[in-house]
Amino acid sequence: MSGNLEKIDKDFQKLLTQAKSSKELQDLRVSFLGKKGRLTESLKAIGQLPESERPSFGQKVNELRVVLEGALNKKDQEIRYQEVSAKIQNEKIDVTLPGYVQAKGSVHPLTLVQDKLVRIFSSLGFSIEEGPDIESDYYNFGALNFPDNHPARDMQDTFFTKNKQVLRTHTSPVQVRVMERDTPPIRMIVPGRVYRHDADTTHSPVFHQIEGLCVGPNITFAHLKGTLEAFVQMMFGQNVPVRFRPSFFPFTEPSAEMDVMGPHGTWMEILGCGMVDPNVFENIAQAWSKKYPDEKQNPYDPEKISGFAFGMGIERIAMIEYGITDIRLFYENDLRFLEQFV
Ligand code: PHE
Repeated sequence: MSGNLEKIDKDFQKLLTQAKSSKELQDLRVSFLGKKGRLTESLKAIGQLPESERPSFGQKVNELRVVLEGALNKKDQEIRYQEVSAKIQNEKIDVTLPGYVQAKGSVHPLTLVQDKLVRIFSSLGFSIEEGPDIESDYYNFGALNFPDNHPARDMQDTFFTKNKQVLRTHTSPVQVRVMERDTPPIRMIVPGRVYRHDADTTHSPVFHQIEGLCVGPNITFAHLKGTLEAFVQMMFGQNVPVRFRPSFFPFTEPSAEMDVMGPHGTWMEILGCGMVDPNVFENIAQAWSKKYPDEKQNPYDPEKISGFAFGMGIERIAMIEYGITDIRLFYENDLRFLEQFV
């Protein structure tokens, strides 16, 4: 009988030395000391012993249980220590290593300039409007007083869609859309994409404009000048000289172009502008009387209303602001170029 206990002890010790994880140790504990473990089972044989030997056998089994438990607990501590040390080893990080540098994005120069323009005109009380890129001939040309034979309608300049729509050649059609929708006073700008059949170092078939429109009962050319001069001061600096040159647009009368003095003492054209042509108001007035046939007062009666408008190319402003000579740089997405604007 006690030989059997020695065997149990020997087997246990052997397996104990082999155990490498808490899990193996737990299995070992169950298979020897558990309810159906070998040591527990060995107690069952006690009935076959003569009565006199039973107490001492029972005692031996209990002593062995204490020994095995002690050994298990000791080994358990060793294994836990090893496991924790291994974990610490494996998971250690060198906090002095430099991190991975993430390439930072930056705002596109055209967006920077557009944002600045929008901020400036917002500060002057202009609201922001948008319109569709694909326009009807009427909004892009007709309502804006372009005669039917105007060269801008040529296949040369304008992209037409299959169903006789156009890719808007300027943001001015939004003037018409807003006036057909709202009564005066109107003070709004329209940033947006425009399209022309044109490509060289200073022209791109797709480019961006900002339109401005101010309409009210007594708007004069002085308001136009004051607004645009204030804009130039905020955009290019307090003491940048400006000049207005007479020009022509079908939808403004009189019309002008505004130049600013560049860093090398040369005049640079930055925008077209003028007083809204009465013929444009007449077109809007007709749309209103169609919409409200019973109204006696027409809010766009050309005799009673006036306004000014202006439009500028965002690329052009950006080229002046940053001294860029090739417009294509804006669209090539060369990071060496784009990273210079922050
Ligand atoms: N739409 C004109 C252009 O594209 C610019 C402009 C807008 C001129 C408003 C006068 C008034 O050239």
